Amino acid sequence: MSTPARFITFEGIDGSGKSTQARLLADALRAQGHDVVLTREPGGSAGAEEIRSLVLEGDPDRWSAETEILLFTAARRDHLERTILPSLAQGKIVICDRFADSTRMYQGLSRGDLRAVVDQLHSLMIGREPDLTVLIDMDPDLGHARAKSRQTSEERFEDFGAALQAQMRQGFLALAQEFSDRFRVIDGTRDIDTVAKTVLTTVLADLA
Ligand code: ADP
Ligand code: TYD
Repeated sequence: MSTPARFITFEGIDGSGKSTQARLLADALRAQGHDVVLTREPGGSAGAEEIRSLVLEGDPDRWSAETEILLFTAARRDHLERTILPSLAQGKIVICDRFADSTRMYQGLSRGDLRAVVDQLHSLMIGREPDLTVLIDMDPDLGHARAKSRQTSEERFEDFGAALQAQMRQGFLALAQEFSDRFRVIDGTRDIDTVAKTVLTTVLADLA
């Protein structure tokens, strides 16, 4: 089967089920004969994975807000150069767990209004949007409970207060309106298989 090169991202608040759904989508598309690269941010290339531990572990005040934007963007640039663009050039479907929309929300909202800085750096250094973005939407309390049930040291961002989580959810929904051509919003509160079926139907409709 000839695979149409496509860059698909998953977005949403922590614990919404992005990683689970990205993996299930990759499995389903591979089962249909598509050539799929499953990747994630921050990370997805050797250098970007090194930056991942710098930005996700340690004291929440470890970096200034501006330095943090630079680090996430540096990781993204490496990932884009070494993993995403080469895979797309080979005609593969790239599925990425988080991308620039996460920076627009997390770095753009959480420590003051830095969205304009995030957008400027994005257009200067990244300049690429996904072809399709699946937003897994859900109530932040449910997402937080799911995220906290995992045991990891990558918790710099997971203890945002309830108000900021709610702002983040609304922010993602607003992004879905701003970029309505590429965003599809999916209710993540349902069981894993039901969400996965909806995601697959949505993506196949776009590939057709
Ligand atoms: P994210 O990548 O968005 O943080 P994960 O895919 O890691 O989310 O899911 C967070 C936790 O919730 C995991 O333990 C996962 O098994 C569980 N989970 C994911 N989707 C669902 C769902 N639809 N219903 C119940 N639990 C889920
Ligand atoms: P991720 O591993 O997707 O966490 P989760 O599975 O809990 O959703 O991402 C790790 C954290 O990194 C998450 O709290 C969001 C944050 N993040 C940013 O703050 N900015 C970014 O640009 C990206 C890609 C992630």
